[in-house]
Amino acid sequence: MNIEITINGKLIKREVPVNRRLLDFLRDDLGLKGTKYGCDQGECGACSIILNDKIVTSCIILMAQIPPDSTVLTIEGKDQILQLIQEKFKEFGAAQCGACTPGVIMAATSLLHLNPKANQEEIEEGLCGVLCRCTGYTKIYDAIKEAQKQL
Ligand code: FES
Ligand code: FES
Repeated sequence: MNIEITINGKLIKREVPVNRRLLDFLRDDLGLKGTKYGCDQGECGACSIILNDKIVTSCIILMAQIPPDSTVLTIEGKDQILQLIQEKFKEFGAAQCGACTPGVIMAATSLLHLNPKANQEEIEEGLCGVLCRCTGYTKIYDAIKEAQKQL
């Protein structure tokens, strides 16, 4: 099947097998390796990206399910809120092993786009789809709150 999709601001036209997953398309076809493999079952959130302004787990989405003229934002994108959160994650040491980090950052980006003034409870809810086994989340929350001060 032929697809046309805007990824990180760039229009991509490709022919893909009908069962190609979005996660494989990003990583293997486009070389966007920042989006991580985790459970491969839609449960850990490591593969989270923003599709048409919503956070989704790319391991359970087939290219065939994506509506025409869709837009995707990944961890490699140039979005202002995304880049601010990345900066604050570095500053606050909010990543340890890093397996969850791109997914957490994409979830936080999606949240702050929709609700820049999200409170603690809303931040926890916004990030609940991405599991982090290392950080205990405290530094992640601190980094996100610091980013909010600049919005
Ligand atoms: S790899 Fe997609 S949710 Fe775990
Ligand atoms: S930093 Fe290791 S799982 Fe989150």
